[in-house]
Amino acid sequence: MEKQSTNTIWHHATVSRARRESLNGHKSAILWFTGLSGAGKSTLAHAVEERLYQLKCRTLVLDGDNVRQGLCGDLGFSHQDRQENIRRIAEVAKLMLEAGTITLTAFISPFRAERQYARNLVPHGDFIEIYCNCDLSVCETRDVKGLYKKARQGEIKLFTGISSPYEEPENPDLNIDTGIYELEACVEQVMGMLELRGVITPLQREL
Ligand code: ADX
Repeated sequence: MEKQSTNTIWHHATVSRARRESLNGHKSAILWFTGLSGAGKSTLAHAVEERLYQLKCRTLVLDGDNVRQGLCGDLGFSHQDRQENIRRIAEVAKLMLEAGTITLTAFISPFRAERQYARNLVPHGDFIEIYCNCDLSVCETRDVKGLYKKARQGEIKLFTGISSPYEEPENPDLNIDTGIYELEACVEQVMGMLELRGVITPLQREL
């Protein structure tokens, strides 16, 4: 992106991220779910959010299908548009990090470079990449939205996994076999990671 905003000067807030985190009783973080369409990213993100809500944590899910109806409604599925999609989401997630929130993003985010870009925007450790690892054949069999069928018939161009690439994460923070495990077992894996990283405390989980 070419920067057009010149002569802007950063204003420092007195209410800092650290103060918001202390008010909330947990750390903020970005949980970046990536994987094929139908791999279970949104389902898992919302199930984790539900669990976090019960623990009185501040959360927000940013979901591809929803965000593409608003903030990113002007974008399609070319490489360039997907890049811009992820850039905007990464910037929003960064703002939410400042707001003291645990943000869960559920986007295919098929390109390593864009996921790395999103990671690099925020302090080390605040970006947790979660690979929803599910075979294309399983996603295609599920075909919850009927999109794989359309893509195979050529009705949808540039469909991830069919006519557009998905670059698997090489070193995700968490690699979850969403095609194999039950939802609750996947949620447990994410919650365990949040505890391990100190985003939530073990005590919180016992509440
Ligand atoms: S991303 O590649 O830019 O990260 P994003 O997660 O926002 O994608 O949107 C993916 C969702 O858009 C899919 O779950 C699916 O419902 C819908 N979709 C429509 N067309 C495509 C396409 N060509 N490729 C992938 N997903 C598509």
